[in-house]
Amino acid sequence: MDDSYKIILSEKELPTAWYNVVPDLPEPLAPPLNPATGKPVTPEDLRPIFPDSLIEQEVSSGPWIEIPGEVREIYKLWRPSPLHTARRLEKALGTPARIYYKNEGVSPPGSHKPNTAVAQAYYNKKAGISRLATETGAGQWGSALSFACKLFEMQCTVYMVKVSYQQKPYRRILMHLWDGEVYPSPTERTRSGRTILSQNPGSMGSLGIAISEAVEDAATHEDTNYALGSVLNHVLLHQSIIGLETRKQLELAGDKADVIVGCVGGGSNFGGMVAPFIKDKVEGKSQIEIIAVEPKSCPTLTKGLYEYDFGDTAGMTPLMLMYTLGHTFEPPGIHAGGLRYHGDAPVLCNMVKSGLIRPRAYTQNPVFEAAVLFARTEGIIPAPETSHAVKGTIDEALKCKETGEEKAIVCCFSGHGHFDLSAYDDFMEGRLVDYEYPDEKIREALKDLPKFPTGL
Ligand SMILES: Cc1ncc(COP(=O)(O)O)c(C=O)c1O
Repeated sequence: MDDSYKIILSEKELPTAWYNVVPDLPEPLAPPLNPATGKPVTPEDLRPIFPDSLIEQEVSSGPWIEIPGEVREIYKLWRPSPLHTARRLEKALGTPARIYYKNEGVSPPGSHKPNTAVAQAYYNKKAGISRLATETGAGQWGSALSFACKLFEMQCTVYMVKVSYQQKPYRRILMHLWDGEVYPSPTERTRSGRTILSQNPGSMGSLGIAISEAVEDAATHEDTNYALGSVLNHVLLHQSIIGLETRKQLELAGDKADVIVGCVGGGSNFGGMVAPFIKDKVEGKSQIEIIAVEPKSCPTLTKGLYEYDFGDTAGMTPLMLMYTLGHTFEPPGIHAGGLRYHGDAPVLCNMVKSGLIRPRAYTQNPVFEAAVLFARTEGIIPAPETSHAVKGTIDEALKCKETGEEKAIVCCFSGHGHFDLSAYDDFMEGRLVDYEYPDEKIREALKDLPKFPTGL
C-alpha cells in the first residue's frame, strides 16, 4: 500500500503575522548605505520609490508584523500551501531519510513570489500609488506582481531580462493575461537602458540592468513605485509565511526538521523558509543544518566577496553588505533565470557569514537529472530554480543512505516548471552545457566594487 500523504492546514490556521528574523541574528545587520554620502540610508532616501509602510518593515527590529486582513483573504486563494512527504522519491533513492517538500508551486502564478507581491501591491495601493514598476528574470516575479496588481486594480510595468523574454514566451503571455505591460530589457525607455544599449547594442540583459530600469521608471513618475521580488528585508519578511506554515505542519506530522534545503536567487524563498527555525539554532536548542543551493554559473555565496555593493548595474540602489560577484556581472543564460543575480539578501548573507547556513553550488545537468527523478517519482515538475533545491535534498538523502541516519529533510519547493518544459527538452536531448563561472571573470567584475569599508 502506498503511504504517501501531504500535511494540510485549514484556512483558519493561516498565520496572522509574518516573522522577522532580524532580531534573531547573532551579528547585527549592517545598514544599507546611500552611495552619494556613504551614510546609512534614511527613510527620505527611499520615499521616491517605496511607501512608508514598507520602509518601516524594511528597518523593523520587531519579531512579528501583522498580516493585513485583505492580504490574508487573497492568500487563501492558495494558502496554506501543502507540505508533502516524498515517499516515492525516498523509495527510489533507497534512503532511510524522511523527505518533505513545501509546495509553493500551488499559487496561481506557480511560485512563492505572490506571497510578497500581494503584500507589496496592497501597501502601495493604500498609499495612493496606481502603478508598480519592476524587473523580472525568468518571469516568475513579473507574473506574480502582474497578478497581484490586477487584484488591487493597479497597473504593472515589467522590465524582463531580454534573454528570458525571448526564451520564455509563456511567462510573458501570463503577464499580459493579468494586464501587465512587459518590455525586453535593456530598453530605450530609460536612461540606464539606453546607456547599456549604446555600449553593447546586443546586450541580452541581466537582472541588475532590469532593476536599474524599473527603479528609474519609479523614481521619475509620481504615481509609480518600485517593487522588488527578493533581496530586501521586507520581502524576506513576507516570505516567512512559508517557514511558519512548515513548522506547524511538521508539528502536525509529529516530526522535526534536521535539514532544510532551498535554492537561492536573491534569497527570498530560502530566507522565508528558514526564518522561523533560526532562533532555536542560534540559542543552541537545535542542531538543524541549513543548506543554500545556487548555480555554479552564478556562485554568489560560494565564490563572491562579502562587501558593500549596488543592487543594480547602473548604481542607482543603496549599497548593501552582501556576498557579491560585482554589480557589473552579466551571468550566462542558464535556464534557472531566477538564480542569475550578482548579490543576495543581506539578511541571508549575514547568516552565511556567521556560519548558520552552508552554501553549495551545482552545474545544471546534475540539477536537471535530479528534477527529472523528482518528476518521475513525485509527479510534480520543479521549476529550474527549484530543481537546485531538489538536487541538494537528494544529495542529503543519499548521504543518509551511506550513514544510515534517519534524518528529516525539508525541501523548499519554490515553484513548478510548467512553463519551463523547453529547458527539460534541452536537458533530455543533451543540449545543456555545464558551465562554471571562471574565477578570473569574477575577479574582473569585482574590480568595479564601490570603495566603501565593510561593516560599519
Ligand atoms: C521558482 C523560483 N524559485 C526561486 C527563485 C529565486 O528567487 P529567491 O531566491 O528570491 O527566492 C525564483 C526567482 O525568480 C523562482 O522563480
